Amino acid sequence: MQTIQITETVLRDANQSLIATRLPFADFAPVLKRLDQAGYYSLECWGGATFDSCLRYLGEDPWQRLRDIRSACPNTKLQMLLRGQNLLGYKHYPDDVVRLFVRKSIENGIDIIRIFDALNDLRNIEVAVEETLKNGAHASGALCFTTSPIHTLESFARLAKQLEGMGVQSICIKDMAGIMGPKEAFDLVTAIKASVRLPVVVHTHSTTGLGFMTLLKSAEAGADVLDTAISAFSGGTSQPATETMVYALRQMGFSVRLDDAALKDVNDFFKPEFAKFLADGTLNPTVLGTSPDALNYQIPGGMLSNLVAQLTAQNKLDQLDAVLEETPRVRADLGYPPLVTPMSQMVGAQAAANVLAGERYKNISKEVRSYVRGEYGQAPGTVDPALQKKILGDEAPVTCRFADLLEPGVEKAREALGEQALCDEDVLSYIAFPAQAETYFAQRDAKKRNTFTYAVRKLD
Ligand code: CO
Repeated sequence: MQTIQITETVLRDANQSLIATRLPFADFAPVLKRLDQAGYYSLECWGGATFDSCLRYLGEDPWQRLRDIRSACPNTKLQMLLRGQNLLGYKHYPDDVVRLFVRKSIENGIDIIRIFDALNDLRNIEVAVEETLKNGAHASGALCFTTSPIHTLESFARLAKQLEGMGVQSICIKDMAGIMGPKEAFDLVTAIKASVRLPVVVHTHSTTGLGFMTLLKSAEAGADVLDTAISAFSGGTSQPATETMVYALRQMGFSVRLDDAALKDVNDFFKPEFAKFLADGTLNPTVLGTSPDALNYQIPGGMLSNLVAQLTAQNKLDQLDAVLEETPRVRADLGYPPLVTPMSQMVGAQAAANVLAGERYKNISKEVRSYVRGEYGQAPGTVDPALQKKILGDEAPVTCRFADLLEPGVEKAREALGEQALCDEDVLSYIAFPAQAETYFAQRDAKKRNTFTYAVRKLD
């Protein structure tokens, strides 16, 4: 009987997708022990937006959150999401920063690092993968799923093979927009399984309503691990529900070794949390619906709503159809980047600019210029030569790995922070999110001073 393992996303992706990562540690601390007893393959609990949200909105040290989860969950692997050379953001960091970040993540409790690059340019993940392996953690190489004439089963299988060659211990198919259909999933998992001897993990979202079908067909094709979210925080822009998926998988003859009583307790715990965020408006119920529009336009739901907002702000919503027709043309001109952040915004904004100006590429955004210059990595396909010429003139694009051009960054950040930084983790928080980290450090110092004053008064 084929065994399927489950990664629970409630603490990271589900939390990020439904409530913009606003779940404070104190809220979920009481359920960690039970999560640890459920028998998950892993708990995705860190990376992505958790870091930014902890510093910016929750007044939490993200590293402390990780250590606290670690000590409450000694039996379950803790997993994080990392954007390769971009770490948690969208710009490239120098190698010394990437290495220290990976090493400290592992030291503070991470077991599995899922590493991806938005363009599937594997040069942008090689340093993170190497450092993960060097520090004894599990490197999961993730491929961003997208559709285009150049993204074929063969091209994805080839990327998987290259990832295997880099030493990753699993391959993740990452469908961040929820646009991968059950047949695409079945064929892709089959192709990757035929090309590598590694466990295959499938990550999708319920946005378009395909999620359960996509995961079930992935299992049938031999996927080993599926990402799901406990039902209270599942569906819509989040993942398919853990309990429902497990029920269906067992009915179809798969073995899933999860403790159902623990899952029930975990879900019972999260139900009032869900209700609380719904009541205070943090959770907008529209994110829970099913939006097949993303399938019709083959662009992610988030990108579509961005375009609508952008055109509405300019009183040009009547141009939406024209912009939606222009979007795939811009994407083709740029060599078919997967439509994930920041590429989705870049392509959408350029398509809108092309339509609103009445002339293609009359105005070219700074981001598109950097992209064409090669500063994000190599385009999956060929950038339109005329567009490249218009942007670069006779200048040649960057063809090396972009991080090779960057000066080391750890020492500089250490000096800039001085005594504000108590440890390397602080330095990394500052490098990743400078303004948010400094605000957090100031709050932390103020808190310490208050505590001290109080202690002195008590002695009086
Ligand atoms: Co996701």
